[in-house]
Amino acid sequence: MEEKINDLILMAKKEISDVTKEADLLNIKSKYLGKKSEFNALLASLKDMSSEDKKVFGPLLNARKKELEQLFNDKFDSLSCKIDLSFDESLPINITKGSLHPVTIVAKEITDVLKRMGFTVLKGYEMEDDYHNFEALNIPKDHPARDMQDTYYLDNGLLLRTQTSGDQIHAMEKYDLPLRICSPGRVFRNEDLDASHENTFFQIEGMVVDKNIKVENLIYVMREVLKEVFHQDVKVRLRPGFFPFTEPSFEMDMSCLICGGKGCSTCKGGGWIELIGCGMVHPNVLKNCGIDPDVYTGFAFGIGLTRLAMMKYKISDIRYLNSGDLRFLDEFEIE
Ligand code: DAH
Repeated sequence: MEEKINDLILMAKKEISDVTKEADLLNIKSKYLGKKSEFNALLASLKDMSSEDKKVFGPLLNARKKELEQLFNDKFDSLSCKIDLSFDESLPINITKGSLHPVTIVAKEITDVLKRMGFTVLKGYEMEDDYHNFEALNIPKDHPARDMQDTYYLDNGLLLRTQTSGDQIHAMEKYDLPLRICSPGRVFRNEDLDASHENTFFQIEGMVVDKNIKVENLIYVMREVLKEVFHQDVKVRLRPGFFPFTEPSFEMDMSCLICGGKGCSTCKGGGWIELIGCGMVHPNVLKNCGIDPDVYTGFAFGIGLTRLAMMKYKISDIRYLNSGDLRFLDEFEIE
């Protein structure tokens, strides 16, 4: 029996070493280790052996089978790792330059200007809990503001964040005061899609908490940000808004650059695009994070990065931005 096994392994080794294609190796493997192989017949014969023989040949057969399997595995590895590196040198080399996504470009411009003003850039969580996305931001369970943000709830009890504002809470929980942070990222809302609405888009959150922070500080920072992105003074308007986590709240709109303010499908005919939600941090939000609102005040803002990129590059339909179409993306270069 031992001799027979040795012969089988020797023959298999020879065939394994000669083979050059994975498909052929598979055939050889089935010949030596498959159901109808001699090896299998030997294993099957164990059951008719005396118990003493079984004790000797059982472990021997199994050990040699493992050895053979290993030989096949090694050969499979070496065949699948073989990559043909030869190439046709006569072919023209056509190297195209990569480009950054327009949202990445505006995110970088904004974080750059904020960093110069002392802001730290954070990264939040796309999968968020109800507390950070809503509750701690002064949006309790039955608050109507939840309806404004159609939420994707997940089976694991978490949700896909509807806004980057939860990063304010993470920052206040984690860092000491005074605080200056910003946090760009992706957010999700169960929206009907059209030229200006996507279910996945980008925002950047910003927050300052310190002593003596006033609305003027907020407006100054917003102006600097827009100047950096557009390299010119752009027409903006500030109007009262409503956000549960700021008081007072404002919305900053920008004159639509697609139609020059005349009205188009991107601005829904109104001539203005909502770009920034902002305001002074609500005392309840500070309290939720253990901060005394009588000592500290702050401002916060959330900028629609996707919309900002659309304005900057005059992209009329938001759906291009998530399309991944290289013909579209190749148009953009970092300045
Ligand atoms: N999270 C708001 C939204 O998605 C935007 C926003 C408004 C952010 C006011 C803020 C803020 O930080 O203070 O609509």
